[in-house]
Amino acid sequence: MSVLECIDIGSQFCPCHLAELGECITCSLLRGKKVCTCGWSGTCAYMEFQWHGKKARNGRSTVKAPVLHKWEMQKDLFLAELEVGGKLARDLRRAGSFVFLRGDTENHFFDIPIAVVNSDEARGVIVVAIAIRGPKTKLINQNHTCMFVRGPYWNGLFGYRFIERTRHSKCLIVLGGISQASGALVANQMLNNANEVSVLINSQDTVFIAGYLNQTIKIYREAAFSAGWIGLIKNMIKNHGVSCLYSGGNNKQHQLLGAFSAESERRVNLATSNNNIMQCGEGICGSCAQEGNDGKPKRRCKTQMPMERLPT
Ligand SMILES: Cc1cc2nc3c(=O)[nH]c(=O)nc-3n(C[C@H](O)[C@H](O)[C@H](O)COP(=O)(O)OP(=O)(O)OC[C@H]3O[C@@H](n4cnc5c(N)ncnc54)[C@H](O)[C@@H]3O)c2cc1C
Ligand code: FES
Repeated sequence: MSVLECIDIGSQFCPCHLAELGECITCSLLRGKKVCTCGWSGTCAYMEFQWHGKKARNGRSTVKAPVLHKWEMQKDLFLAELEVGGKLARDLRRAGSFVFLRGDTENHFFDIPIAVVNSDEARGVIVVAIAIRGPKTKLINQNHTCMFVRGPYWNGLFGYRFIERTRHSKCLIVLGGISQASGALVANQMLNNANEVSVLINSQDTVFIAGYLNQTIKIYREAAFSAGWIGLIKNMIKNHGVSCLYSGGNNKQHQLLGAFSAESERRVNLATSNNNIMQCGEGICGSCAQEGNDGKPKRRCKTQMPMERLPT
């Protein structure tokens, strides 16, 4: 069986309740097996569990965050700056960071996952973009002064290791729909790793992350799935040496970019936004679970599941 990587392993939230229940995503010993098969080279989840009295560490807390600014970008789409404090803002800088947000209610079933567009540790502020769709986002939009924020969460994308490890290379970020929100943190992390970064945004969408992209980044606009869009991506892979792609969009876009990277003679790694329904974000409720290649359900709020048909 292939080893699954939990995004929280080695973090301040590991071990979690799954360890107490014999369900740890990565550690075979914590699942009751006799042999360690994790291959993880960071802090050992099993030893942490023993040292911590066989108890889960404290989970994420919720803060009531004042809304400092709110901008309407188009009908039913707004950006908001939330004051969450320096510690949480620092923990929300890496690619794939998101929070659970809810409007002004004590009812946790209004919590929804929302990507972090930008995080400013010095000011203790994060920026989020919210498309108003149904009951939970409508409630958020009703109160202009505060939101409840639970975090940090990091599994907003699959293939995090590709983004973390790609250095001195060329990267292309393809964004469409509200998944554009996840693009700026990905771009920042790629730039910090001395990569050359280009961003392609669906020309039918309002660009709302431009202010959070470094000015050295070249931004292209083409209609998603048009001949121009397909040609640009293929050209960047074939003739411009792109070796890492990030697809922030729907699953159809992920599949197509997966096919383009598989066609390439060179290795092209693909990371994708995580589009699953999530409720708890802690691997407990099961709303994000989908079958993996082995036919068993995988909890995708915590498990890294890069697309499986990529060249190795
Ligand atoms: C990791 C992640 C990051 C996200 N980031 C953003 C973001 O930055 N901005 C943004 O506007 N939206 C984002 N979303 C989607 C957002 O969570 C949903 O749009 C929101 O939950 C809709 O709730 P609703 O009650 O307003 O609408 P509903 O009528 O309940 O749903 C509208 C659509 O939203 C999706 N959805 C509903 N509930 C959930 C849920 N619990 N988890 C995930 N998707 C759901 C479904 O596809 C549904 O068809 C993100 C989702 C994930 C998984
Ligand atoms: S969202 Fe609850 S298990 Fe993943």
